[in-house]
Amino acid sequence: MDKLLIEGGLKLRGEVTISGAKNSVLPILAATLLTEDACIIKGVPDLRDTNTMLKILKSLGKAVEFDKGVVIVTQAKNANYVADYKLVSTMRASFCVLGPLLARLKKAKVSLPGGCIIGVRPVDLHLKGMRALNSQIDIESGYVLAKTQKLKGANIYLGGEYGSSVLATDNVMMAATLASGRTVLESAACEPEVHDLAEFLIKMGAKIRGHGTPIVEIEGVRELHGAEHKIIPDRIEAGTFLLAALITGGDVIIKNVFAKHLGAVIDKLQESGACLDICDNSIRIRHRKHLSPTNITTLPYPGFPTDMQAQIMSLMAVTEGISVITEKIYPDRFMHVAELNRMGAHIQREGPHAIVSGVKCLSGAPVMASDLRASACLLLAGLVAGGKTSISRIYHLERGYENIEEKFRNLGARIWREKE
Ligand code: UD1
Repeated sequence: MDKLLIEGGLKLRGEVTISGAKNSVLPILAATLLTEDACIIKGVPDLRDTNTMLKILKSLGKAVEFDKGVVIVTQAKNANYVADYKLVSTMRASFCVLGPLLARLKKAKVSLPGGCIIGVRPVDLHLKGMRALNSQIDIESGYVLAKTQKLKGANIYLGGEYGSSVLATDNVMMAATLASGRTVLESAACEPEVHDLAEFLIKMGAKIRGHGTPIVEIEGVRELHGAEHKIIPDRIEAGTFLLAALITGGDVIIKNVFAKHLGAVIDKLQESGACLDICDNSIRIRHRKHLSPTNITTLPYPGFPTDMQAQIMSLMAVTEGISVITEKIYPDRFMHVAELNRMGAHIQREGPHAIVSGVKCLSGAPVMASDLRASACLLLAGLVAGGKTSISRIYHLERGYENIEEKFRNLGARIWREKE
């Protein structure tokens, strides 16, 4: 296993180009199961999660080629309807093969993804949606067994205790594209990645309206065909680099970014005192002399993303004054608090809140990554801390950030990898 070493204290300067969005590419790859035709996906980030999804597609009968950011998916052999535990358990997004398999093959056997370090993460909304579309769902030996004579459109309320669900919206929307009649999803997730998936499905011949809003209408069609699509930029990667520039007092131009997808993050950074120049496809961020503390509450899009909560905590940790974080999507997503405190931060957790008392400086320390975004948070803390930080278990980081060391090194960071 590798660990990441960072020598902090350098201001980041230069340009960085953002990769395609992880949370778009995973369901879009799953959507290729809706046709036997070839699909071409461009702007695909080379991530551990992407490669896991490609393995799953292969296990389900697809052939895949992945070269220089382009994935070509074709039918290799007879479609298989069983998504195995070994693959699904490593990545929750793989559960969204359920909808496409059920829609095309009328049956699916998909391992339950299980919980993870950031919370329990149930799939009840996915299953509610599939049942509403006229399928029978049973749980047996850790697998979801789904079958249907014929999927039928329905009105489905998809809101849960914590608001809308991104992957449940993706999953049910994909199944509904081939159901007979009209489906209306209420309280659908509005995340840009759901919109991107719907755009791909429309290119495949699906009839979808209202995607990107809480009410999505899908008029089922008999079949879908192959399509070509380019993945939107990763707003969470872009947000992570915005914070990296700010926390180090740097001056960075972020390229291939849609600022409209980062409204809540940009608003908070401006409130903190960052200077941002926003253009069509790029954002320049510079540091002002004094940053102010701020409060955030994570919410479904267009609210502040839970996937940026850990990273902004690093900024708050070194911003003098009191900042408060309220986590409304995953109330237990605070594994990074203890690690930041080991680096000299003063953060107290109270249920779904973290109260951050900013300190003047952090000090480098050996820390452990617990999940993808917590790893990014520790990396940011390492960039600003005095001395050396070593982050172990960085395979989490590889799940969601393409060429991360190279991108940071190009901005002037001292960061390298060593065997543990
Ligand atoms: C997606 C993102 C993940 C992000 C999350 C929230 C992908 C691949 N992953 O995950 O990076 O952190 O959205 O923005 O797109 N819930 C239920 N029942 C369900 C499904 C979800 O109660 O059936 C709850 C979850 O526990 C959570 C909330 O709903 O509290 C939102 O989760 P959801 O949007 O489903 O997250 P994912 O789609 O798994």
